[in-house]
Amino acid sequence: MIKLAPSILSADFARLLEDVKKVESAGCEYLHIDVMDGHFVPNITLGPGLVKSLRKDVNMVFDAHLMIENPDNYIKDFVDAGCDLIVVHQEACKHLHRTIQNIKSYNVKAGVALNPATPIETIKHVIEDVDMVLIMTVNPGFGGQSFIEGMIPKIEELKKLIDDRNLNIDIQVDGGIKPTNVDKVVKAGANIIVAGSAIFNSDDIVKTVNLFRENASL
Ligand code: DX5
Ligand code: ZN
Repeated sequence: MIKLAPSILSADFARLLEDVKKVESAGCEYLHIDVMDGHFVPNITLGPGLVKSLRKDVNMVFDAHLMIENPDNYIKDFVDAGCDLIVVHQEACKHLHRTIQNIKSYNVKAGVALNPATPIETIKHVIEDVDMVLIMTVNPGFGGQSFIEGMIPKIEELKKLIDDRNLNIDIQVDGGIKPTNVDKVVKAGANIIVAGSAIFNSDDIVKTVNLFRENASL
């Protein structure tokens, strides 16, 4: 069974809670929260204050995707705001092992994200410490970009590494995922599907969410 993680980046920020309630009542399990600092990626989004406000009214798993430099400085803030899962970028962490331990010290789940150009090889010595690996299927920074086809073998490679070591680690994919290509990423091994524009820009969110699930069942 896959889990769906709508990305609030494509929601209407002026009607954010309303939009989030729509995906929650459509049965989506995770809320994917894209945090950007204008340094690690060329865009700025939101901070822990907004997460804290949403937390009061939403019961989904809060999945913070930190696309920021020096993420260690902000991990506690996002945990205190109510995040259940904190994902940092391999490329943003000088001491990735330490950062993962830092996240886990707060008793929340830890994830590591890899940009399209970053090999799986770079996390093979820390993978046993994480709960989830996020394979970026676009370059991070913006919603609505096209899926990079070359990421399919990368997802397969990660799945093989996880299976070979008999680990229980989720594989999340993020960027350009739509009902028309979700089958490919699931077949490759992904089980948590982020979708921003495909869900929030659709006319009928419930229908789109159901279509994602139908097309993902292999
Ligand atoms: C990109 C973000 C994604 C983005 C996905 O940097 O990490 O979560 O919102 O949006 P879509 O699904 O539109 O590609
Ligand atoms: Zn994201």
